[in-house]
Amino acid sequence: MHPDDLPHVAACEPEDIGVNETVAPDIQTIISRRLLLTSGAAAVAAATIGADEAQAQASRSASTLKFKDVKHGLDGTHHVAEGYRAEVLIRWGDPIAKDAPDFAPGKVDGAAQEKQFGYNCDFLAYWPLPYGSRNSTHGLICSNHEYTNNELMWPGMNGRNNGAAGLTKEQVEHDQSAHGLSVVEVRKRGGKWSYVKDSPYNRRLSMRGTTFRVAGPAAGHARLRTNADPGGTKVIGTLNNCAGGFTPWGTVLSGEENFNGYFRGDRNKTAEARNYARYGVQASRGAPWGAHDARFDLDKEPNEPNRFGWVVEYDPYDPKSTPVKRTSIGRFKHEGAMTTVSHDGRIALYSGDDERFEYVYKFVTKGKFEPAKRAPNMNLLDEGTLYVAKFSDDGTMTWLPLVHGEGPLTAANGFDSQADICIETRRAADLVGATPMDRPEGVAVDPKTGKVYVVLTYNERRKAAGDANARERANAPNPRADNRWGQIVEISPPAVKGAGYDHAATTCRWGFFIVAGNPKDPKAQAKYHPATSDDGWFQAPDNITFDPKGRAWITTDGMDNFGNDMADGLYGADTRGPGRALSKHFFRTPTGAEMTGPAFTPDGKTVFVSVQHPGEGEKASFESPGTRWPDFKPGVPPRPSVVAITKADGGEIGS
Ligand code: FEO
Ligand code: CA
Ligand code: CA
Ligand code: CA
Repeated sequence: MHPDDLPHVAACEPEDIGVNETVAPDIQTIISRRLLLTSGAAAVAAATIGADEAQAQASRSASTLKFKDVKHGLDGTHHVAEGYRAEVLIRWGDPIAKDAPDFAPGKVDGAAQEKQFGYNCDFLAYWPLPYGSRNSTHGLICSNHEYTNNELMWPGMNGRNNGAAGLTKEQVEHDQSAHGLSVVEVRKRGGKWSYVKDSPYNRRLSMRGTTFRVAGPAAGHARLRTNADPGGTKVIGTLNNCAGGFTPWGTVLSGEENFNGYFRGDRNKTAEARNYARYGVQASRGAPWGAHDARFDLDKEPNEPNRFGWVVEYDPYDPKSTPVKRTSIGRFKHEGAMTTVSHDGRIALYSGDDERFEYVYKFVTKGKFEPAKRAPNMNLLDEGTLYVAKFSDDGTMTWLPLVHGEGPLTAANGFDSQADICIETRRAADLVGATPMDRPEGVAVDPKTGKVYVVLTYNERRKAAGDANARERANAPNPRADNRWGQIVEISPPAVKGAGYDHAATTCRWGFFIVAGNPKDPKAQAKYHPATSDDGWFQAPDNITFDPKGRAWITTDGMDNFGNDMADGLYGADTRGPGRALSKHFFRTPTGAEMTGPAFTPDGKTVFVSVQHPGEGEKASFESPGTRWPDFKPGVPPRPSVVAITKADGGEIGS
């Protein structure tokens, strides 16, 4: 669709720029102003201007999503909207290499795990086969495996990492192999999806068995060199891969998130003490790998943490290809990493740093995407400009460049080159004055409108607007103190007549898409979350993607936070028209699980989701998990799994 055809683009008028507040506006004024500015939709207008219940009810039927909400609740299994089928496609431990053994419950076996689907599936990408097609019944599922629950994997464990006893060498090997990424060929036959067990495409890229090339400004830098890799250009493994994204040239991006928790030793004895403190690299706190693998002991390998925290890119179509860590995009706790093509052919990549009071980033390539050929694009992400977001109260936002030699990013502040900025991205962003956000998780671009959606999951440590601590006090895009519910911010890059959107622009407009939480909970101040029914609202949004019709699909990680007896799930919502922001509850996970990784086939008839850490809980163990989903067999622990959801009548998801 041409941007000029879209009514909401014109709605981004600067009507309130320059409003000179004599007193700070209250939260509801800030929220409603930013909601109204970006929508113009009847539903939101009805909610924000306090229309009566009848009007609100009328607006509820406006969603283009026609399924009936799944009920909020919590039990041992999954639930999907009436008329849909949700079938387990692949589970942790399922064999994916030709010679892989079957899953053996409770067995410690790193060699087997190297050939089996990893633990805690997270982000998913679906790429059709063959390359370049829009095949919606045959393709590749590409999955992240974020972390492990040792206490659910093996018997006799005293919590995750086995408490003070730590893991054995064999357990560490298994644990490392359960981390990383998987590529699995999948097919739909007779309406049912299954994976191809001996496909030549099937691949594990694990923490233990796969070498990644380091590319971009920090490649080969002294701060990345180790005993095993004196050149600083080859890293074995990828760590804590949370969300991700993909590129228009058919590769997958994966964000290395909480890499900090895997290291032992004393950070203060390294030359990187300030750097490691900023990322929370811990001295020995429950990090068992270092006891058996010197790479994870700072006393032996002081530079190893600088080799994680990157966005990795890999080609799922070539199982022999070398995956790459793209240092140009910066080092932080990457969650999502989503690309879009800007008006002039350059690529913009958006990424969030998921921690309380951290930032939102974008990277704009120097070179242009070449749609006709694949090869010239393969290293496009190595050169370009990294930016961090600063939001203003007036509805504008600025992308501040993180470029060596500009502003405070000089040798005087410890940045000798762009490599230092890439390695210590957080500190660079602090110095330029980025806006501290309420945990930036998934970021996605609506392919129909070019708008960028930044999911802020929650931040119960956010202070009131007047608080003395400037970093932590409420600001315009994070307006609620004690924010237990999260919000989704919408960034509108300028439209370029006839050419799409300028994602390279350094000034954009912003507003709210959804300010989440139970609309009936006065504390949540979320009366602006105009869900379609009492079961349609959510809190703690995490991942986001778009279906082929341009509707947003949002997963949650924390419906049960702060005392709710509710499971995480998948929610859909229009982003445009009268149904804008009316969220609907489509899928619910079993107890202890988090919902991650929604990925649609090009025909919109299947959505794949990851059910991550089912059965997890404070007292949960292999012997006594919160649920034994999905096998429900005695002695078999819960297994994180990818689920394929289709409509029973073969129709599109949401119809
Ligand atoms: Fe791994 Fe930010 O969730
Ligand atoms: Ca996540
Ligand atoms: Ca999360
Ligand atoms: Ca998680």
